[in-house]
Amino acid sequence: MPQDQLLDHEYDGIQEYDNPCPGWWHAIFWLTVVFSAAYFLFFHVGYNGWTVAEAWQTAAAEDQKKLFGTMGDLHNNPATILTYMDDTKWMNYAKNVFLANCQSCHGPDGGGVVGPNLTDDYYKNVNKITDIAEVVKNGAAGGSMPAWKTRLHPNEVILMAAYVARLRGKPVNGQCRPPEGKPIERWPTLAEVTGAKSKAKPGGASK
Ligand code: HEC
Repeated sequence: MPQDQLLDHEYDGIQEYDNPCPGWWHAIFWLTVVFSAAYFLFFHVGYNGWTVAEAWQTAAAEDQKKLFGTMGDLHNNPATILTYMDDTKWMNYAKNVFLANCQSCHGPDGGGVVGPNLTDDYYKNVNKITDIAEVVKNGAAGGSMPAWKTRLHPNEVILMAAYVARLRGKPVNGQCRPPEGKPIERWPTLAEVTGAKSKAKPGGASK
């Protein structure tokens, strides 16, 4: 223990000590200085969110912006869907989204589990190619097919529609659900829809 230091002044008979602060007190003080620097860097320079979940969300949103930034807003029209159906890079991306979100009900290859088979020509809620994105976005059958509009980016909905359209005609080996709904016409070809468009008939493309 350091010796008590008595100061040599005296007021009304009262004297005071001048002792240094204890080491542990200094330690805490310097800790707060170090902490504040770390705090500053974390929250004011590289702020990501209060919690790990929030930081993840921020990162995911940024990632998505980067991902979809160059492609612009995708719209639900036959030309867009038919174009992305042939885009290997985006269809690989869509495959992962399908495996993460859809396979539990539709099977890894779309053969159907509790949700219908997406590989045959029979559909319950789809008559034309643009109906797929609507079903994905808004769900069907009172929610047994969930609505994905709050869980998927709008561009992802279109990519998933293209992926589902692409599953048609790719029969699954092994177990799949029997046909449900009605058989529908084949998808149009890209030439058909862009040809229809150039005749300046707006809306005609989706017939
Ligand atoms: C919780 C189970 C479940 C999940 C998860 C699910 N679906 Fe479905 N889906 C269904 C059911 C059930 C139906 C049939 C609805 C009906 O009876 O009208 C359906 C129908 C569909 C249809 C219309 C098929 C038709 O014949 O009309 C499409 C397209 C579809 N789902 C795509 C998807 C995609 C893409 C995902 C993932 C993003 C997904 N589904 C995730 C259960 C699911």
